[in-house]
Amino acid sequence: MNIAVFGAGHIGLTTSLCFAELGHQVMTLDIDAEKIKNLQSGITEIYELGLKELLTTQLAAGTIRFTTDLQKTIAFSDLIFIAVGTPTLPGANCDMQHVNLAVQSITKYASNPKQLVIKSTVPPGTNARFAQIYAHLNHQFIANPEFLREGSALLDCRKPDRAVIGTLDPAHIQNLRVLYQPFLNTQADFLVMDPTSAELTKYAANAMLASRVSLMNEFSKICEKVGADIDCLRTGIGADQRIGTQFLKAGIGYGGSCFPKDIDALIQFAECQNVEVPLTKAIRSANDHQLMDFKNKIVSHFSSRELEKRVAIWGASFKPETNDLREAPALKLVQGLLVEGFAIQIYDPVSQPALKLCFKDEPKVQVFENQYQALSKAEALIIATEWPQFIGADLAHVKQKLNSAVIFDGRNIFSKAQMEKHQFMHYPVGRGPCAQS
Ligand code: UGA
Repeated sequence: MNIAVFGAGHIGLTTSLCFAELGHQVMTLDIDAEKIKNLQSGITEIYELGLKELLTTQLAAGTIRFTTDLQKTIAFSDLIFIAVGTPTLPGANCDMQHVNLAVQSITKYASNPKQLVIKSTVPPGTNARFAQIYAHLNHQFIANPEFLREGSALLDCRKPDRAVIGTLDPAHIQNLRVLYQPFLNTQADFLVMDPTSAELTKYAANAMLASRVSLMNEFSKICEKVGADIDCLRTGIGADQRIGTQFLKAGIGYGGSCFPKDIDALIQFAECQNVEVPLTKAIRSANDHQLMDFKNKIVSHFSSRELEKRVAIWGASFKPETNDLREAPALKLVQGLLVEGFAIQIYDPVSQPALKLCFKDEPKVQVFENQYQALSKAEALIIATEWPQFIGADLAHVKQKLNSAVIFDGRNIFSKAQMEKHQFMHYPVGRGPCAQS
């Protein structure tokens, strides 16, 4: 199959490479000429396990091409995937300009009817609207929301739980069936529905996952108050097969380019439809509170002692195995601590260049290239992202580098036993502090 992908971002690039890996001919288009030039040479700024290697092998195999040439891409393709960004506009509406532009260009230049498959996260009703506007051109508009996660994007793309296909005309999706079949466990995982339901499924999935995180974060506060352990709760409720074990880890809140944006967009969309969504709104405010409460714990520890307000932070990306800093709780925490007068020494395994840029005009934030050097003279260590190298840290060394043996463990990476053994004052989430003996 000749497949065009509009957008060479996280989703567009990963999807392109996974299709190319199956032996399809893929042409990936982006308006960013520098990005395309880099990709043609096998260079990508996206930090994603195995992505660079797959890019190299598929370029060598000649299954993938990168271009800025719109007309060539349209002419080449049987199937066109749209995977361009839909960021948040001020007021929380979804910014559709890139999707609209892609659709306008395709409908303008295509000399024959095309299948346009929209992977970008778009407000429910978008595909139906396009189908109506361009009905005279006989293109098919198909919703195909994406569920891959940053950090495990290739794995999720190659082994998805399901493919959601939203179309008004299920007779015309044979191409997509063939395309997705090698990835899916069974044909039953190829879910065909109307486009609006498919579009809403994407928002609902992210809201559902985020709600689990927010609910656990809320429970973590009750645990702290009454001396219960959030990890016991997680095991206890996760063992119920109706609930399951995933997305139940309490912490300092969710971040990233998806949950915050999609929940805002869902709230905005529902309000435009005059639908009250108090529960969805609560997910967002619970997330904001979680981080604020964590920051307040740090502030009150320092205000009750005569300490220099200097802390080290390990982890900046919104989760491990990615260099994505968008909506990262760590960055919001830095901003909050700066307002409280703290000096910050921050380390992240892969985000240092972006961090340096981010804080270039902020003298009270120092970005380190070594996790242990970041601890020097700090009165506490804050864990903001659960990178494996932090979980396996040499705690004796940590203690020796810090001025005070205090850890604010925003991701619960250290056990009570470890903290007691090394005599740290430990502030986990949902477990209550463990005092230095
Ligand atoms: C999320 C969804 O999981 C994907 O299915 C979806 O395709 C993607 O958004 C998207 O819409 O494009 P992603 O944002 O990459 O994927 O990351 P997640 O693994 O979902 O984590 C989101 C946030 O929740 C992170 O900040 C993470 O630290 C937090 N989280 C996750 C928790 O705090 N606790 C958990 O138990 C799980």
